[in-house]
Amino acid sequence: MPTTLDLLDRRVVRGWLTEHDGAALDRLWRRADEVRRAHVGNEVHLRGLIEITNHCVRHCTYCGIAACAGPIPRYRMTHDEILACARQGRDFGFGTIVLQGGEDPGVTGRFVADVVRAIKRETGAAVTLSLGERGDDELLAWRDAGADRYLLRFETSDLALYRRIHPGLPGLVSDRFERLLRMRDLGYEIGTGVMIGLPGQTWDTLADDIWAFRDYGIDMIGIGPYLPSPGTQLAGALGRELAAGPDDQVPNDELTTLKAMALTRLVCPDTNIPSTTALSILDPSAGRANGLCRGANVIMPNLTPPQYRVLYTIYPGKASLHETADVVTDRIIAIIDGLGRTVGKGPGGRRGRNE
Ligand code: 5AD
Repeated sequence: MPTTLDLLDRRVVRGWLTEHDGAALDRLWRRADEVRRAHVGNEVHLRGLIEITNHCVRHCTYCGIAACAGPIPRYRMTHDEILACARQGRDFGFGTIVLQGGEDPGVTGRFVADVVRAIKRETGAAVTLSLGERGDDELLAWRDAGADRYLLRFETSDLALYRRIHPGLPGLVSDRFERLLRMRDLGYEIGTGVMIGLPGQTWDTLADDIWAFRDYGIDMIGIGPYLPSPGTQLAGALGRELAAGPDDQVPNDELTTLKAMALTRLVCPDTNIPSTTALSILDPSAGRANGLCRGANVIMPNLTPPQYRVLYTIYPGKASLHETADVVTDRIIAIIDGLGRTVGKGPGGRRGRNE
C-alpha cells in the first residue's frame, strides 16, 4: 500500500497547483480532509494571538508595519496588558498563547522572558513566540523561560526573490532557514510559512516552498494570500517590476491558497496548519471554514485589545477590527461546531512530540 508521501513528488505538487478541473479538485479537497482527519483528528486547536508591538526595525517591502511604512502610530503593550490578554485566553480555554510582533529591540530579551514566565505560571498554556529574527542569546533565554514554539515564516524559498523583498540590515545577513534550524536545536517546535501570490512567486517556486516544508520537517505551517499593503514598495513599482509573466505568476487568490494548504497537508500529514486571518479577509463569509475543510486544523483568534489591533496593520482589511475577543472567539467556535468538528483541548502541539 503506498503511503500518502509515495503518491506525491514535487512534480506532482507542481501539477496540482495549476489544476482547474472541478472534479479533480474535489478529489484533492477530499483527500486533504481525509489525511487531516486520519493524522491530526477532528479537533481544531485555538491559539490566542496577542500582537504585542507594532514597532519594527525591518524594511520588508510587503509589510504595513515595516520601519519605512509611513508615519503610523506605534505601540508596545506593557507586561500587565499582555498578561490580562493571556488570562482572557485561558478563560476562553485556549491551550496556546501566541506573542507576535514586529522585530522590535525595544521589546527586550529580559522583558519577553519575564512575560513568558508569567504566562506559563498563570495559565499553564503553551507559549508560541513570533518576534522576528532574534539572536541566539534571546532564543535561549526565552526557551529557558518556558517558551515552547517559534513562528518565523521563510516567505519564499526563492532566495533571490527573498532578498528583494527583505532588504538586509547593516552587517546582518537574513537567513530564516538558518534561524529555524537553530530554534529547533534549542528545543522549540518550529513554525514557518509563505504568502501566496507574492509578485515574482512562480508555480515552480511555490512547489519548492511546499517541498521545503517537508524537507525541514516543519511543525506548523501558516499559508495565507499576499494582500498588497497600501504605501508599501511591493504594492507599487517594486511589485510591478518583480511580477512574473502571466503564465508563471501565482495569483494571490483563495483557490490557489486552498490548493497550497491541501497539498501541504498531503506532504506533511501530521503538521499543524492554521486557517489564516488573511484567508478570511479574501473570503469573509467562508474563508475560515474552507481552510478547515481543506487541510487546516488550527485557528488563531485575536486577543489583542482593539485600540492596538487597529494599529497592527501588516495588511489591509483585517476582519473584525473593532470587535472584542469574546465576539471573535464565539464566531470561530460556531464555525467549528458547524463543521461537526470539536475545539481542541490542551496545548495541541505537534502529534507525538509533546503530547
Ligand atoms: N499580505 C499578507 N501577509 C502578510 N504578512 C506580512 N505582510 C503581509 C501582506 N501584505 C505576513 C508575513 C509575515 C506574517 C506575520 O504576516 O508572512 O510573516
